[in-house]
Amino acid sequence: MRGSMALTWDTTLTMGVPALDEPHQELFRRLDALLEAIRRGSSRDEVGRTLAFLRDYVRTHFAEEEALMGETGYAGLADHKAQHDAFAGDLAALEAEHRRNGPSPSLILRVKARVSSWLRDHIHRIDRALAEHLRAR
Ligand SMILES: [Fe+2]
Repeated sequence: MRGSMALTWDTTLTMGVPALDEPHQELFRRLDALLEAIRRGSSRDEVGRTLAFLRDYVRTHFAEEEALMGETGYAGLADHKAQHDAFAGDLAALEAEHRRNGPSPSLILRVKARVSSWLRDHIHRIDRALAEHLRAR
């Protein structure tokens, strides 16, 4: 449901750089789809599909950001990529936990506390620095 986006996305996350803002909104749409599937009490398979749907887009978007940093000679690339890699690892661990235990209460808590807050914090601090670099060019 589109209305649930308000839970995770808000305009303070907007950088004024469409190459970042548009994929970030898509990330949150996929995160909301995952949270919504868990809230609805969806089956393990369905929650697994929404987790994979989020993970695929995370991978695509991180690769795009890293390409953009490389093309524009961004000095913070290595640190930024290290953050992406750590998050991708956390997401893989969540998927592994889900395969073992299904959509358990601890999975729900970890998605909310880790994934949602990580994305917000990353966008606010790390992607904002990249946005400033891109705008200054
Ligand atoms: Fe990023």
